[in-house]
Amino acid sequence: MISKLGWFLYVSLCDCSPLPDSELQMYGEVHSPEYPQPYPPNLQEQWDLTVPEGYQIRLTFTHLDIEASANCYYDSLTVFYKKKVLGKFCGNENSADGYHPGNQPILSPGNSLTLVFQSDKNNPERHQNVGFSAQYQAIDIDECSAPQPGDGSGPLCSQICLNTLGSYLCSCHHGYELRSDQHTCVLSCGGGIFDEPEGHLFSPGYPNHPPHAMSCQYIISVEQGFTISLNFTDNFHIESMDTPEGPKCLHHWLQVTVSDQQPMKLCGRTSPGLIDTNSNLVKLEYHIDHEGQSNGWSLEYRTHRVMCPFPGSIVKGRVTPVLSEYLYRDYIYARCDQGYKLMMNGQEVERFSTICQSNGQWHLPLPECHIIDCGEPEPLLNGGFNFLSGFQNQYLSVVQYRCNEPFYRLFGDANVNFTCEADRKWRSTHDIIVQPVCLPVCGQPTNHINVYQRIIGGRDAPENTIPWQVLLSVDGARGGGMVIAERWIMTAAHNVVNKGQTVSHVILRIFMGHNDVDTMKQSPLNATSVHVHPEYNNPNSLNYNNDIALIKLQDTITFNSSVMPLCLPAEGATYDTNVMGLVSGFGIADDGSKRFLTNKLKYVPLPVVDQETCRNSITSVKRTSGSIPDLTNNMFCAGIPEGGKDSCQGDSGSPFTLTENGRHWAAGIVSWGVECGRRGTYGVYTRVANYLDWIKKTMQEN
Ligand SMILES: *[C@@H]1O[C@H](CO)[C@@H](O)[C@H](O)[C@H]1NC(C)=O
Ligand SMILES: *[C@@H]1O[C@H](CO)[C@@H](O)[C@H](O)[C@H]1NC(C)=O
Ligand SMILES: *[C@@H]1O[C@H](CO)[C@@H](O)[C@H](O)[C@H]1NC(C)=O
Ligand SMILES: *[C@@H]1O[C@H](CO)[C@@H](O)[C@H](O)[C@H]1NC(C)=O
Repeated sequence: MISKLGWFLYVSLCDCSPLPDSELQMYGEVHSPEYPQPYPPNLQEQWDLTVPEGYQIRLTFTHLDIEASANCYYDSLTVFYKKKVLGKFCGNENSADGYHPGNQPILSPGNSLTLVFQSDKNNPERHQNVGFSAQYQAIDIDECSAPQPGDGSGPLCSQICLNTLGSYLCSCHHGYELRSDQHTCVLSCGGGIFDEPEGHLFSPGYPNHPPHAMSCQYIISVEQGFTISLNFTDNFHIESMDTPEGPKCLHHWLQVTVSDQQPMKLCGRTSPGLIDTNSNLVKLEYHIDHEGQSNGWSLEYRTHRVMCPFPGSIVKGRVTPVLSEYLYRDYIYARCDQGYKLMMNGQEVERFSTICQSNGQWHLPLPECHIIDCGEPEPLLNGGFNFLSGFQNQYLSVVQYRCNEPFYRLFGDANVNFTCEADRKWRSTHDIIVQPVCLPVCGQPTNHINVYQRIIGGRDAPENTIPWQVLLSVDGARGGGMVIAERWIMTAAHNVVNKGQTVSHVILRIFMGHNDVDTMKQSPLNATSVHVHPEYNNPNSLNYNNDIALIKLQDTITFNSSVMPLCLPAEGATYDTNVMGLVSGFGIADDGSKRFLTNKLKYVPLPVVDQETCRNSITSVKRTSGSIPDLTNNMFCAGIPEGGKDSCQGDSGSPFTLTENGRHWAAGIVSWGVECGRRGTYGVYTRVANYLDWIKKTMQEN
């Protein structure tokens, strides 16, 4: 009887507690109660054996000894699968009666097996039967080789069956896919997302008509910066319907959708051939309904880098590299020709490159090339420059420096032509950057005295004939001087020494640039220092040896026609007797009847007097008036024996010039005399040529 459940399943010989149902055993052992002792009477016991789904149970008896009877009527072990009896056993191996399973194991059709053991009231034989002992084991079912069920539901798997432990899997041939029932295979769309740079797509079953309606979607999606082209093969067939308006893709179609564009429906028998989508994302939707026939389509797709527009060219520059087409991720570079610079948005840039972007546009627009400029050329003091070529200091402009003639002249043979070069520097042709220098022109007035006249018995000097003439005012007293350099005045020491002391430069006022004292006095110049010859020593006004001094001006003079320096004596300059020189000054003059302090610059030409003649004249004067200074070799005389022409008081410090090659040089400084213009006496002058070294040294050191 198998009416009740709840019989214990003995899984082993030990007294373990039974395992929960969920953990199904793969093997075990069962035996009759009290085995191997004889079993008791009046038994009815049931074992329900279960192994995991997908397995069979193989039951193998190790021993069976049950009271034998016909049809096992009294005692028996019955084995069921579900409600079906697989065997009813009794007896033992040797008994003639009963039904013994022998060595044959019992295989359950499914994963469960029920054993029912029963015994009647008594055991008629003396011999005590011990019952049974059996082992069982889960055996994998090969579902795949099972015969087709007879219910017409078809094979387990419509295409490929794969046996697994305890179960099986269905699988499909290429081009098919498993339906959700996990058993049947259908033609596959082969759809999905395609992101490789190249690929092959075709309709299900191509080149044959698929058996049923389907909608398949294919998405080709590649990296930005690439575009997709579709190349349909010639064998193309999608059913089209003839309508009054012509063939239409009514029930079957392949719809191609490219972003930002109207979808395109394809059908008919003509291959669309090559389609350049210009997009990196293409959607293909293939639709066929349950009627009609389309053999389908097949295509190869490829990807191409996005193309950027031709970059063009730049004036006075180059764009490299030159390619037949410019594609995504290509770089181009721009350079300017020599003498030009790269400009972007009004800013100069050192270098330029741009990349073709994924959107088919250049990252940056091309720059411009602008001509470079070298900036203003260095200014030239007392000079300037003209553009020989070019302008605005641009590349390859040439400037030529010049000095302000005739008052300044270039020093040496400096190169005066400078070119604006590619390195943005003004360079001379020989690539030496030696700036030219303008030196003052000395002793060459723009206006010349034609008719020599006298001071004492002299004449007013015409404008600009004696531009080196200086009027000194020393604490109110008048003296003369001469310009010898841009910041230097030469005069007589006795003008600037008072009681043995050199006067302060502060009390000096210096005038020049006019022949008229009143006009000149409106613009005095200041001195910064006074340098008296160190060996000048004249405490009693009886020693005019070394009567020479230099005054340094506070400001530099810019020479012009009214102010110009006198040249210094050349090395070894000579004072030849009877050579005419020119004395000038603002000292005492006479108009024939009286003497007065002149308001106009006067001049007189006088010859150099033989040194011995002069000495004799002084010696003879000394006889009558004792306190007369000595004539030294640092002095010379000028004048005429008959007198009437001379330098006089107030002329002290003024120049006596001689000319050499048309240039006036500072031969003498008006120093002293016995009486102005007296017959038989001469004016005495400091012999400047003796002081050349001291003059140069003093000017250099101060
Ligand atoms: C398109 O494919 C055909 C072969 O199917 C080939 O001959 C042709 O060159 C391809 N066209 C392009 C542009 O790739
Ligand atoms: C400067 O250029 C001018 C004009 O070309 C030329 O006449 C002159 O000789 C050049 N001077 C020098 C020093 O090269
Ligand atoms: C010269 O010095 C005087 C007095 O120190 C001063 O007033 C005057 O401005 C100076 N002149 C120049 C040209 O520096
Ligand atoms: C010449 O230069 C002097 C001193 O720099 C100045 O006073 C005079 O005005 C100038 N004369 C002319 C004609 O420029």
